[in-house]
Amino acid sequence: VTPYYDHDGVQIYVGDCRDVLPRLPPAFDVVMTDPPYNVGKNYGGHDDRQEPADYETWLRSVLARCADLAPSLVYTPGTKNVWRVAALLEGTGYTPHAMLGWHKKEFAGDKFHVGPAHCWEPVVWAGREKNPYFRKRFGERGRDFLVVPATHGDPFAKRHPCPKPLPVMAWLVGLFVPDGGTVLDPFAGTGTTLRAAKDAGFRAVGIELNERYAAAAVKRLEQGVLPWDSAAEAV
Ligand SMILES: C[S@@+](CC[C@H](N)C(=O)[O-])C[C@H]1O[C@@H](n2cnc3c(N)ncnc32)[C@H](O)[C@@H]1O
Repeated sequence: VTPYYDHDGVQIYVGDCRDVLPRLPPAFDVVMTDPPYNVGKNYGGHDDRQEPADYETWLRSVLARCADLAPSLVYTPGTKNVWRVAALLEGTGYTPHAMLGWHKKEFAGDKFHVGPAHCWEPVVWAGREKNPYFRKRFGERGRDFLVVPATHGDPFAKRHPCPKPLPVMAWLVGLFVPDGGTVLDPFAGTGTTLRAAKDAGFRAVGIELNERYAAAAVKRLEQGVLPWDSAAEAV
């Protein structure tokens, strides 16, 4: 398969990841991805309103292919699907290891007496091995939770129904990619993971079904490096 984009250590393939993944070499350190949540978003190609069992079969087949290519998986299941993560990963080659989260700062209220707002999203960390890689520094503890504004004001929010904030992916890349590592995102969207990996000096490969989103990813990759503060404020 020929990449749609191949520049400066980042490649993007346009197509169905189930077709592209079997053609890639097992040369990745981590699969870091944000799959469709099956909540009815219009991605202009993918059906995001499948029967729950069909959705699980579909996503499981993708993750099983990923497990042949990379020892670790870091992915956002969506709050709706978090209950089924263990069942979903069963038989893929990945075992759930831990959960992290990111908080969408502007969706949180401060009232004690009204129902909880849905304003944080889980991040699942799984691995082929019992203790998957993470960045250790003796004497320091990292955080398992990041508070950021969601994508409002991000120009890429206009090009896709649900891009992830760049600081979220920058945080995860910094935690889970080893020195000199390579990241794979089979549901690349506008390339947020790819951009975060590139900014941190890692190589990355993305796959995206919708060419319009792949074109937005290319645009994102071709932008100059944004200083952290202007990308978004992280707390
Ligand atoms: C939740 S979005 C990812 C958004 C991305 N994190 C970003 O920040 O832009 C999921 C993406 O998966 C893509 N997609 C759905 N099915 C796919 C498939 N079979 N192969 C590759 N991409 C697919 C959709 O078009 C959508 O852009």
